[in-house]
Amino acid sequence: MPQKTLPFTKSQIEEIIEKYPTPFHIYDEKGITETAKKLNIAFSWVSEPGFKNYFAVKACPNPHILKLLKQEDFGTDCSSLPELIMSEKADIIGENIMFSSNDTPFEEFQKAMELGAIINLDDIAHIPYLEKHAGIPEIICFRYNPGPLRQGNEIIGNPVESKYGLTTEQIFEAYKIMKDKGIKRFGLHTMIVSNMCDPHYLIETSKMLFDLVVDISKKLNINFEFVNLGGGLGIPYRPDDNAVDINFVSSGIKHAYEEKIVPNKLDPLRVVMESGRAITGPHGFLISKVRHVTKKYRDYVGLDACMANLMRPALYGAYHHITVLGKEDLPKDHVYDVTGSLCENNDKFAIQRQLPKIEPGDILVIHDTGAHGHAMGFQYNGKLRSAELLLRPDGDVKQIRRAETVEDYFATLDFSGL
Ligand SMILES: Cc1ncc(COP(=O)(O)O)c(C=O)c1O
Repeated sequence: MPQKTLPFTKSQIEEIIEKYPTPFHIYDEKGITETAKKLNIAFSWVSEPGFKNYFAVKACPNPHILKLLKQEDFGTDCSSLPELIMSEKADIIGENIMFSSNDTPFEEFQKAMELGAIINLDDIAHIPYLEKHAGIPEIICFRYNPGPLRQGNEIIGNPVESKYGLTTEQIFEAYKIMKDKGIKRFGLHTMIVSNMCDPHYLIETSKMLFDLVVDISKKLNINFEFVNLGGGLGIPYRPDDNAVDINFVSSGIKHAYEEKIVPNKLDPLRVVMESGRAITGPHGFLISKVRHVTKKYRDYVGLDACMANLMRPALYGAYHHITVLGKEDLPKDHVYDVTGSLCENNDKFAIQRQLPKIEPGDILVIHDTGAHGHAMGFQYNGKLRSAELLLRPDGDVKQIRRAETVEDYFATLDFSGL
């Protein structure tokens, strides 16, 4: 089986643990920036002002990560007020923000408009709501839900059952309404898959959007500035999963563009994305120490991290690879459930996983936690969210979020008068 690699050594981690106790997530800056550069290079064919990835803030909501990505000319995809504020604090504002929310409160539309973000509306009913509370923007995008025309995947669900986006019928009407309100700048968005590793599917999605752009442009006599392919680019969580060949995806999309947009003599159309997972996911690692090794009907490894630090295995049965530091070359001749301390039996990072013999004090690295990892944390059962560290290219480590304390847990409670 191919090995998953690590951007640090065991002794480096031991040194880091002396200063920052486990558990913590550590992000590899070099890996993140290299991945960002690769994506930009793959899409460098996109017409002026060029390709942009609006990094999905929800994947790794930390201003230090956003600042890093800003250096690579990324924007942000925000979907809540705190995400908008975080983007602003990282100095990513204006049309460098794509506001792709759903069931949106008016305060968020107001903040998005104040920042000059591109509003990506999730529903036709949001048009009068937006107008009433925040006004009509200069540029508008709608999220398209193709319903029975496409199949989604496990995490995001079947489009027909999905709460997101406008139906095929509604989307024509929506652009007509906005044209009649005087808008002249338009974008089109969709997101129907999550963690998709089949490059053909992503190319098909671009074809669907290009066809729709042609149809709507002709029918309503409007010009589109961009199509937004959303997020959903997958990553190889398992050692034998294949990584998406982004150059293959990009050249497939370019081909579709030349076939569908160019002959129709439409204005140049930008291709943009909201990729989160593929940018930071593989470059984050949850570092945790083994507290107890126990034997019941099965053998258990109890960590000092729990599902409050990484919820994906419990939420979707997601696989996260585990390396036992210093035991990489030992035979994986033991079978364990690797658990946290939360009082839920699904608080398991791995179930019946083949691993080397594990002892209390061993350091485990849980891979691919750089997206939808710390971000999904919660405090149920009085569990606290961990610190986030950034491993700099020169080997230095910067704490970019401290661990929560018991005082943080109590911060919203008023004990007076009890
Ligand atoms: C609207 C939208 N855009 C982008 C993303 C990012 O997806 P991913 O991190 O899988 O690329 C999400 C994730 O849920 C989303 O809801």
